Amino acid sequence: MGAIKAARAFTGRPKIAKVEGAYHGLYDYAEVSQTAKPESWGKKDKPTSVPVAHGIPAKALSDVVVIPFNDIERARAILDANKDEIACVLLDLMPHRVGLRPAEADFVEFLREWTTKDDALLVLDKVITFRSTYGGAQGWYNIAPDLTAMGKMIGGGFPVGAIAGRKEVMEVMNPLADKVLFPHSGTFSANPVTMTAGLVSMIDFDEEAIDQVNALATRAIDGINEAIAETGIKACVTGGGSVFRVHLKEHPPHNYREAYTTPEENARLVVLLDHLFDEGFLMINTCAAVMATSLRNTEIDALVAALKGGFAKIK
Ligand SMILES: Cc1ncc(COP(=O)(O)O)c(C=O)c1O
Repeated sequence: MGAIKAARAFTGRPKIAKVEGAYHGLYDYAEVSQTAKPESWGKKDKPTSVPVAHGIPAKALSDVVVIPFNDIERARAILDANKDEIACVLLDLMPHRVGLRPAEADFVEFLREWTTKDDALLVLDKVITFRSTYGGAQGWYNIAPDLTAMGKMIGGGFPVGAIAGRKEVMEVMNPLADKVLFPHSGTFSANPVTMTAGLVSMIDFDEEAIDQVNALATRAIDGINEAIAETGIKACVTGGGSVFRVHLKEHPPHNYREAYTTPEENARLVVLLDHLFDEGFLMINTCAAVMATSLRNTEIDALVAALKGGFAKIK
């Protein structure tokens, strides 16, 4: 929310653009189209702005421009149609609900170029992907955003959110400025417990820890791919850095519409997740996982073995 409001304050423009299906929190604008369904998502060339929460104002929907992931031509046409009105393009470089696959480099470069040309901002949501490399998932690409939103791991287990970015853009939140364009405060601002826990975890955050958790995810992905091949199930696994997601689809999805789970897939996913639960693994309903430094290879191998048993059951 803060990054979107900062982008609006900096550019003086009302609209934002976001990727269909991407989750960016509960803010009205950020959540648009996060749960779009085949009956509501509209044409590929012009995805509909679909509400999530009941009662969202119509103006919030019309101020959100929805673009397809990894589709430069369609994204360009949609963005061009809203030229001069877009404050920012909000992008998660590996959005979980869009399939948990890293964005293609040319798509990311296109969004960087388009925003620069249109005087809009590129805002990276690194709430999850900050952990992907020591410099965050943007280390996979040759770009720099105007603003970055962070959360989760930077709080050392406590609730946290942070915005970083270009000095001129951050200035809109400067409480000492003559005119503060985006006044920013709240109950949790600069919370001392969170700040202390976050500082300690950022001091401990080093390349060794990243290598360790990334190696665990690579081990899991390799093991799951083997389990898929050995059981012959139509499934695949996506991910990057220290996260992964199992899909009950033959081919890895490129966008939200391809990642969308059909009722039939959901029914099988429930059986798989129940099986994993019985084996001692509680997984999110998308069958995704995030590696922690406390994990070891034995736990990963046990998860892979449990998944293999589940694959055999639902095949
Ligand atoms: C990618 C991503 N962006 C944004 C958010 C929202 O963060 P917050 O709850 O701090 O608003 C989340 C939370 O799960 C997230 O996963």
